Amino acid sequence: MDDYNNDNFYKEEYDSADYETTDYSMNKCDCRTDSPLCKKCVCQYNRLEEARFWSRIMQEHALFIKLGLPADQPMLREEAQNFIDLFENLRRRLDKVNRLEGDLLEDLIKAVKLIIEFKAKLLRLLIQCKEAPGSNYPLLLDHTRREAKRFLGLLLKPEPEDSLDLLLEQEVFWLRIMKEHIEFVIHLLDPSERELLEQAEGFRKIFSRLLETGRDLESMNGVRPKNFNTVIRFTQDVIKNTMLLRDFKAAAFELAKLCEVLSIISTPLLLDHIRREADKFLSELNMLLPEVTKCQSTLKQDK
Ligand SMILES: [Fe+2]
Ligand SMILES: [Fe+2]
Repeated sequence: MDDYNNDNFYKEEYDSADYETTDYSMNKCDCRTDSPLCKKCVCQYNRLEEARFWSRIMQEHALFIKLGLPADQPMLREEAQNFIDLFENLRRRLDKVNRLEGDLLEDLIKAVKLIIEFKAKLLRLLIQCKEAPGSNYPLLLDHTRREAKRFLGLLLKPEPEDSLDLLLEQEVFWLRIMKEHIEFVIHLLDPSERELLEQAEGFRKIFSRLLETGRDLESMNGVRPKNFNTVIRFTQDVIKNTMLLRDFKAAAFELAKLCEVLSIISTPLLLDHIRREADKFLSELNMLLPEVTKCQSTLKQDK
C-alpha cells in the first residue's frame, strides 16, 4: 500500500491529534424571542474554518475509497487518487488565505460537487451489482456522500438561521453520522475482539436511541415553540454520550497505531478521522447550546 509511505499526507494526519474547533460569526437573524439580548444569534458558520476542516475530510474520504477499491479497478483507483491530489492542493491554498472568496471558493465548490458525483457513481455501481464491492460498504459511500453534501451546503448557503432550528438540524445530521461510525467499526473489527465489540454495541444502542429522539424533537420544533427546554436536556445528554464515543474512537486509534487491535480497517487514519468528526459535532453543540439556552428556553444558562 503505497499510501503508507508516500508524501507527507499520512504522517501529517498522524501528527495532528489536536481537537478541531469551529468559529461562528455573530449575525443578526430571525430569532423567535423579543429579548434584545437575543437579537444577535450565533447563526452563521465561519466558512473558512469549515472549508479547512471539511477539505481535509474530503481528502481522507478519497484515500479510504481508494484503499477499499479492488486491485483490478485501476481507473477508479486513479480517479480516487486525483481527488486526494485535488483536495491536498485546495488545502494548501486555504492555508494561505484569511477569507474564502473568488476563485478559491469557486474551485472548492466545483471540487466538492465532483467528489459527490464520484461517490454517487461508485454507490450506483455497487447497488446495481456492476462492480465488485472491494471493502467500500455501500453505506460508507452514502455516509461520505452526505458529509460532502453538507460541506457543499455550507459553501453555498451562508445565510443565518434560527439557532434552535440549527441545533436540532445539527443533532439529527451528526447523530446519524455517529451511529454509522459505530456500525462501520463493528463491521471492521475482527470477531475475536469481543470486548471492543461489546463496547461498540453499547454505543450503537445509545446513538440509535438518541437519533430517534432527535428526529422526534426536530419534527415537534416545526410548530415553532417560543421555548423548548427538553431540547436543552436532550442536548446535554448528547454531549455527554458523544464525549464518551469520542474517547472510545481516540482509544481505538491509539490501539490501531500500535498494532494492538485485530481488524480489517485499511488505515488507522480512519479512526482518527471519525474521532475528529465527533469533536466537530461537540464543538458545534458547545457553541449553540448556550445560545439556545439563553434565547429559546426558560432555563438559567449555567444549569
Ligand atoms: Fe468522514
Ligand atoms: Fe463520518
